[in-house]
Amino acid sequence: MDIRRFSLIDLALGEIDKAIKVLSAPARSAREVPAAPEGAALQAAQRTESVRLMRVNHSGEVAAQALYQGQALTSRDSAVSAAMRLAATEEIDHLAWCEQRLRELRGRTSVLNPLWYAGSFAIGALAGTLGRSTGLGFVAETERQVESHLRGHLARLGEADPRSRAILEQMTHEEMQHGAQAASLGGQELPFPVGMAMRLTARLMTLGSYWL
Ligand SMILES: [Fe+2]
Ligand SMILES: [Fe+2]
Repeated sequence: MDIRRFSLIDLALGEIDKAIKVLSAPARSAREVPAAPEGAALQAAQRTESVRLMRVNHSGEVAAQALYQGQALTSRDSAVSAAMRLAATEEIDHLAWCEQRLRELRGRTSVLNPLWYAGSFAIGALAGTLGRSTGLGFVAETERQVESHLRGHLARLGEADPRSRAILEQMTHEEMQHGAQAASLGGQELPFPVGMAMRLTARLMTLGSYWL
């Protein structure tokens, strides 16, 4: 009997189970959605724009889950694997907050999320094979890209939608902390193809989830 084969199947089933949970089950946050004043009722055009931006942010958090899980799977450094799994757990709050705000706005999540999950998982799994300092550098780069993307969305939202704004401000603050922590633990600059693949995926995701 081939024990190794069984363990690979177990691993694969475990990963499929996590993917299904992220993609189909409502995310449960450990913390409340960041509080914000209700503000004036949104105009139709603003609501549409808020839905599109929050859909992109939700997809970003789906991708973050996949990136961390992919890296946790392939990293041979148990400390990095544990850090990845913890990061994925903390990011679940972000996923849940975006999902809840989309519901409040009567919007929907992106139909492309399974694609983003698969692509991000593959990139994370590749990064996990590249060693501790690259793995941590990968986290730092992910968080840096997410932070800059969130700042762009905050500028586009303006003051018209305080509830979405409060969520994005809290997420920005936490992504900065995640990034700084990874860098301080020894994260190094990424090999060019990995950074490039991440930027390309992020650009495709932003465009695709905004419309679809
Ligand atoms: Fe996040
Ligand atoms: Fe983060």
